[in-house]
Amino acid sequence: MLALNASMFIVTIMSDSNNLEVSSVRQILLLLADGNFHSGEELGLLLGVSRAAIWKHLQKLEGLGVKLVSIKGRGYCLEGGLDLLDFDSIASQLDSSLPLKLHLFPHIDSTNSYLMRHESPALNVCLAESQSAGRGRRGRAWVSPFAQNIYCSIGWGFDGGVAVLGGLSLVVGLVVVRALQRFGVTGLELKWPNDVLYQDRKLAGVLIEMTGDPAGYCQVVIGVGINVDMADDASLTITQPWIDLREIVDQQKLSRISRNELAAALIDELVKVLSDYEQQGFASYCAEWESFNAHTGFMVELINGSNISSGVCLGVNEIGALVLETSTGKETFQGGEISLRRR
Ligand code: BTN
Repeated sequence: MLALNASMFIVTIMSDSNNLEVSSVRQILLLLADGNFHSGEELGLLLGVSRAAIWKHLQKLEGLGVKLVSIKGRGYCLEGGLDLLDFDSIASQLDSSLPLKLHLFPHIDSTNSYLMRHESPALNVCLAESQSAGRGRRGRAWVSPFAQNIYCSIGWGFDGGVAVLGGLSLVVGLVVVRALQRFGVTGLELKWPNDVLYQDRKLAGVLIEMTGDPAGYCQVVIGVGINVDMADDASLTITQPWIDLREIVDQQKLSRISRNELAAALIDELVKVLSDYEQQGFASYCAEWESFNAHTGFMVELINGSNISSGVCLGVNEIGALVLETSTGKETFQGGEISLRRR
């Protein structure tokens, strides 16, 4: 099991003093991230420790799911290198006046669970390189291998009760699309309530959870997972059609998008939209959301437990409910555990 101290990468951009504690394991990772071979001696010199100690650190890395190649006489290498999340890089791309606390973990159970455990009225952002218990909607697991994707949660306290959640969940999908559009990505679609799709394959998902007063002040945790560069072995357990950003970038001949740039864009768009959403609600996002709706005009099925409703998708309304033209007329459906599929 992983023996890393989960709190070692906690940093904050709220105050001037960044208390980033650079661990030995992280130093090794940063060196190996270039994809070249580094000898045990070089690593030992860097950290000022013995080769046996280095070996122990490398074991920890393997415990994180980092695949090391070791060749006698050459040392250790991370094939293909790693695009690691970096606090300074993310913070430098964010508006420093934002009242935001950023927590960056090498490994965690789930960024959503972390923020649910640490309720706070402040705006907290939690990012992790990997999750051991990443959660998706409808009780699904979210495959979360090390340093390959974005796992990001934002915790936020607001006065609005559960009624606000339906529309919020849709708006967050739109935020992901907006963040990706900054890098020139086109052809993205939204599947109600908030899956981000590309050519009918899932690129990103959103999980929103809430604690507090269902009619008043509550703590909302918004979790976003974006597939960036998923290794084949990690993807074997994914049970739905999926795609990662690397494939889209290759297809569209775009410049490479680093995870730090993407994380910063996502946080920036999310924070901007959250304060606006609190004032405006979903109505002002309805038309934009609809312009990405993957299902408008298509015959769909909505599955809610053992109930299946069929109809032509007419789009979403001003509170984010899905409108279907069924055999008995127009019907609207709201959030929860409903699942939508094209017929
Ligand atoms: C879905 O099923 O589509 C929602 C997936 C949400 C995954 C993200 S990854 C960051 C955050 N932490 C979690 O445990 N889940 C969300």
